[in-house]
Amino acid sequence: MPWRSTLQASATVISLLLLVNELRRAYNRLEQQQNTLTPLPPTTRGIESRIGNTPLIEIKSLSAKTGCKIYAKMELCNPFGSAKDRVALAIIRAAEVRGDLVPGQGDVIFEGTSGSTGISFAALANALGYVAHICLPDDTSPEKVQLLQTLGAVVEKVKPASIVDPNQYVNAAKRGADEINNDANDPRRAVFANQFENLHNWRVHYTTTGPEILRQLDRVDVFINGSGTGGTIAGVGRALKEHNEATRVVLADPQGSGLANRVNFGVLYDSVEKEGTRRRHQVDTLVEGIGLSRLTQNFKQAEAYIDEAVKVSDAEALSMAQYLCMNDGLFWGSSAAVNCVAAVKTAMKYGPGHNIVVIACDSGDRHLSKFWKEAAKVSKSISLEEVLSLN
Ligand SMILES: Cc1ncc(COP(=O)(O)O)c(C=O)c1O
Repeated sequence: MPWRSTLQASATVISLLLLVNELRRAYNRLEQQQNTLTPLPPTTRGIESRIGNTPLIEIKSLSAKTGCKIYAKMELCNPFGSAKDRVALAIIRAAEVRGDLVPGQGDVIFEGTSGSTGISFAALANALGYVAHICLPDDTSPEKVQLLQTLGAVVEKVKPASIVDPNQYVNAAKRGADEINNDANDPRRAVFANQFENLHNWRVHYTTTGPEILRQLDRVDVFINGSGTGGTIAGVGRALKEHNEATRVVLADPQGSGLANRVNFGVLYDSVEKEGTRRRHQVDTLVEGIGLSRLTQNFKQAEAYIDEAVKVSDAEALSMAQYLCMNDGLFWGSSAAVNCVAAVKTAMKYGPGHNIVVIACDSGDRHLSKFWKEAAKVSKSISLEEVLSLN
């Protein structure tokens, strides 16, 4: 009878739809598990479960002016304000798996950092049951020191020194962890996070940030980022290149850093290193978080994937920061501004029609007393042509 076969056909269609829906949900669950930074089940997830899966936005004014599509991966949307949340969580989770950190027992995470990583560790330590001990140069901006102290981190200030000096802040952090671990009467465990050399850094960008970008955009022609530890450009660069070897990876390098010269000519060098011209800080720039004059393990992971480097002056970065703020409502930190200058230069070099992705690592809030103090002086009506004529 026709009504019976109609009923049977409808039942089959409904069953098929239910099956497809179940398969889709199972696939989504699997995908989420693969890209998650926390092994905790959803009901017990705290703030750490919100790390990653950051949005990708278009920087419309730059797209309109260049004829390319210029996008920013909004790492400043991580719960503790930067891409470093991913790295801090990955380092903590790896230490937990090794049994080097156990929550709720006073165990200590040591890190030498004057930047975002310390803030991520300080906040995550509270969320996950640890103590953060941050070693930093004694001329670090007061608001950063205050923020770390407010978050409850132990803050140890040391004199600015070269990495070969045992009292340099990274070395001070290692020593602090060793002292606890070597003291038989101290029941606490300590971990030296060591973001510059720790390979969990680039790997977390390889397994999370890179794949996220690939899900968010059909085609990535160019990826541009600065390098502090090198973790982001190594991880994202490798993930994008493995997906499509035609993707170009460009290092955006601030003045005073030797990395651009290393990429373009094979030698780690910057003109500020000329005899008699060297100043107190190794990398002399208003830009914070990127630029280095030494090779780190994480940067070494990146070298095979970086195609070229673009130098960006402080004057260009300051005016780009103001331009983005006034034209797009994007109030960003200095490394994001450097990336955007490099993105426009690259767009002009390659011509219209390319999809370019940069990282927006942190917000302008963290740079008010140094970078933005100067950026705020740039004319609010500055044009993009003027930004690029500043060199
Ligand atoms: C504000 C900011 N931008 C960019 C970076 C560079 O990231 P990476 O260390 O992955 O090279 C850092 C690193 O500390 C940073 O603090």
